[in-house]
Amino acid sequence: MNDYANSSQNYYLLSDNYKIPKLGLGTYKLLEQNAYNAVLSAIDIGYRLIDTATIYENESAIGRAIKDCSIEREELFITTKLWHTGLTSVMKDFHESLSKLSLDYIDLYLIHWPADSNYISAWGDLIKLQAQGLVRSIGVSNFTEHHLQSLFSRYQIKPVINQIEFSPFLYQKELLDFCSSHEIIVQAYTPLTRGKKLTHHVLQKIALYHHKTPAQIALRWGLELGLVELPKASSINHLQENFAIFDFSLTESDHHLLADI
Ligand SMILES: NC(=O)c1ccc[n+]([C@@H]2O[C@H](COP(=O)([O-])OP(=O)(O)OC[C@H]3O[C@@H](n4cnc5c(N)ncnc54)[C@H](OP(=O)(O)O)[C@@H]3O)[C@@H](O)[C@H]2O)c1
Repeated sequence: MNDYANSSQNYYLLSDNYKIPKLGLGTYKLLEQNAYNAVLSAIDIGYRLIDTATIYENESAIGRAIKDCSIEREELFITTKLWHTGLTSVMKDFHESLSKLSLDYIDLYLIHWPADSNYISAWGDLIKLQAQGLVRSIGVSNFTEHHLQSLFSRYQIKPVINQIEFSPFLYQKELLDFCSSHEIIVQAYTPLTRGKKLTHHVLQKIALYHHKTPAQIALRWGLELGLVELPKASSINHLQENFAIFDFSLTESDHHLLADI
């Protein structure tokens, strides 16, 4: 166990009582050997959460990296997602993901998009997978308040996660507040704006003050709002930089500036 795994400060407790790392590796667009290498490097640096999806077509490569890494399965937190074409074939799609990842359970299974009304019956299938012990936690992605309300009115078991795009440039405060009021933790995807807005003068100014980089400021901001941050990175430098966000805090004035960016 490294320091990250030892520190309870680096995890949130989900409403189903499983713990989730506050920071994970995004893997969209990482294919084959690039996915394998990035996951192994990330685990070596200390990342414990890996975020994949059926549609990313990298579950097999990630499965190989999980098998080859030096960390016990129990210490890792693996997320994958049901693509919208699978909303009416949940069991089949889930078992394909499980098999590609070469795992016997998934830590977090998400409905990727509420593309049509079949997301409602799909949620019932996720509840079954959880009851079968094949999935520990279940959640959703790209759900608005309306989609969440539809699940609440039909099911007793609520999602514990909503994974949505979230960054200082897309501050979805109302949805975050709604999720928080239902004990749903928000995971932030595209937290670095795919690198496009990191030169913004406000990020640069705050970064200079804290001797950090704009990417680290964007990620730290999300952590301080209670989000799980999911930056994707392939270079070792980026992987290390994005991991070094637990040793400083933003000021109240930084938060005001970032909220108005
Ligand atoms: N649920 C959904 O619908 C959904 C949608 C989109 C994304 N996601 C998840 O969220 C993850 C992250 O989102 P994303 O991939 O869209 O974008 P992102 O994490 O905002 O940005 C990734 C890009 O930023 C670069 N980067 C990484 N660290 C950097 C740093 N410290 N400084 C400068 N540039 C840096 C990466 O470069 P290098 O690769 O060269 O290091 C890559 O080009 C995805 O990989 C996926 O797991 C989920």
